[in-house]
Amino acid sequence: MPDRINDRPMTRRHEGRTAVITGAAGGIGRAYAVRLAAEGAAVAVLDRADGAAVVKEIHDAGGRAIAVHVDLTDAASVAAAQEEVAEQLGAADILVNNAGIYPNQPFESITFEQWRAVFTLNVDALFHTAKAFVPGMRERGWGRIVNMTSNSVGMVIPGFSHYVSSKMAAIGLTRGLATDLADAGITVNAIAPSLVRTATTEAGPAELFEMVPQLQAIRRVQVPEDLTGMLSFLVSDAAAFVTGQTLFVDGGLIRS
Ligand SMILES: NC(=O)c1ccc[n+]([C@@H]2O[C@H](COP(=O)([O-])OP(=O)(O)OC[C@H]3O[C@@H](n4cnc5c(N)ncnc54)[C@H](O)[C@@H]3O)[C@@H](O)[C@H]2O)c1
Repeated sequence: MPDRINDRPMTRRHEGRTAVITGAAGGIGRAYAVRLAAEGAAVAVLDRADGAAVVKEIHDAGGRAIAVHVDLTDAASVAAAQEEVAEQLGAADILVNNAGIYPNQPFESITFEQWRAVFTLNVDALFHTAKAFVPGMRERGWGRIVNMTSNSVGMVIPGFSHYVSSKMAAIGLTRGLATDLADAGITVNAIAPSLVRTATTEAGPAELFEMVPQLQAIRRVQVPEDLTGMLSFLVSDAAAFVTGQTLFVDGGLIRS
């Protein structure tokens, strides 16, 4: 089976743009940051973890990036991050809401605090970042927002009632924002991956890496670089007429 991953930067199509990527200190967010920087964007790595290694990786490749420490669950912290980005890189043109948590627990063991913790990051943080970064996009009449959801919204996975609910909410917000921001030249879309190999998923049950690919049309384990081509397209001018959509980049697991 062909096993090629389209992660090569093809153009400098994001030259002159400033991109904010949340949760970009590792995992999928790191791959997004590296790809957009390679295609010319100045990238702000927003994370509560140290983003210095990703920033160094981008600098070493000749790109432009800064790390901004933020707690995305705190509106004031997000507002301060927006100011820091504006000061150092200029107003953001591109916002990628990538940070998320995906604890796996049977519904009956989930406390309300645990339920809220999932929603506070996976949903409320998207509200905070939109409030912080949309005004600058509206002012310039151009913007791109991409929210990370999950292909688990299209199937039944045990132990994910809070996670799937939050990722469905992210799709709802994607559609709502797409509707309300279209007049400002801002598109809003969501990406739904399958199980992706990251440090966090690798710490979970190993059998998932056997099981999930068997449900996909393309039966290999997904890696972050499988997602970067779609992100690059969605935040480019080429995707100007694509909005409110959820793109399943999941090896054909959900055949919608
Ligand atoms: N990995 C997968 O299999 C998979 C599958 C479907 C969807 N997703 C979604 O993709 C996104 C990225 O997944 P990943 O596996 O790369 O995640 P990850 O755990 O590797 O990275 C998440 C990042 O978010 C940061 N973060 C967490 N809480 C934060 C907070 N309060 N403030 C600031 N930063 C915070 C973490 O420090 C971390 O760097 C998530 O939204 C996830 O739900 C992942």
